[in-house]
Amino acid sequence: MGHPTGSGPATLRLEIRPAPPETGPRPEMRSLLCCLSAAFALVSCQVPSSVSRRAASPLPGEIKVSLPPLVAGLEAPTWGQAPPPAPQPEGWTVPVRDTYTQVRTSRKVVAITFDDGPHGENTPRLLDMLKARNIKATFYVVGNMVKYNPHLLARMIAEGHEIGNHTVKHNMLDRMSDEALLAELRAAHDQIVEACGVAPRTMRPPGGAIKKDQKALMLRELGYPTIMWSVDPLDWKRPGPSVVASRLINGAAPGGILLVHDLHKPTVDAMPETFDRLLAMGYEFVTVTELIALDEPEPEPEPKKEEAETVDDGQ
Ligand code: NI
Repeated sequence: MGHPTGSGPATLRLEIRPAPPETGPRPEMRSLLCCLSAAFALVSCQVPSSVSRRAASPLPGEIKVSLPPLVAGLEAPTWGQAPPPAPQPEGWTVPVRDTYTQVRTSRKVVAITFDDGPHGENTPRLLDMLKARNIKATFYVVGNMVKYNPHLLARMIAEGHEIGNHTVKHNMLDRMSDEALLAELRAAHDQIVEACGVAPRTMRPPGGAIKKDQKALMLRELGYPTIMWSVDPLDWKRPGPSVVASRLINGAAPGGILLVHDLHKPTVDAMPETFDRLLAMGYEFVTVTELIALDEPEPEPEPKKEEAETVDDGQ
């Protein structure tokens, strides 16, 4: 049989056509472009996002583009930011350090502090002097004195003064274990609260004897900053009222903390002159916690001045 032609039954003709010629670049060009685009992608990834965003932004009416972080975990830059603030000790709403000898302030204020009382005769006399001048003071009382005159603490509070913790027995704290130190201060704290209903906010170590880590412990466990002093007239050596007064007056400076003892009669005798002279000099008396609240932060260190360029013109 010959091949059917013409009107024979329809047959399926399978036509295989060659693929149309490609319109894109030749294979060798494609691989080159591939390499180039990969390299470009790599380079653009290494450009800081701020730069690439700026470059891609039309002007004006910048379009905000949110890009994923370049590196996981570095979403928010941390450089140039202040460190997180230290946790506030309980009872304090202002920043507080673990120790003060004075505070930084431009205001002409001082805090006068009376230690080792209350004394049955000297302290009421002192309270009268303070009241007559509307001066507020801070009393670092000793528990073993408080028990004889608890009513004087109530008077101090009623007249606007502040009471601080000076331990129960006035023993040196730097020789104590942490447990013994905390027990001593907690016992004195409770005596003060029982006598006047107001909790002390600060402490002063007997004899100024205290270790650095003990200061941190007291602030952490009791909320007490340790209050030292900037002026010590050595009144307990009884140099005479006029000497005590002149040492206090000459030592006073804005933000200062004055240390005296209402246990001693000659010290109380020195107070009218001390108060009146300091008031005349423009000083305001504040309590220790008021003084702490006035503490100003350390100023930023001044940037180093660049050395002036010198031009050598040959003459
Ligand atoms: Ni003392």
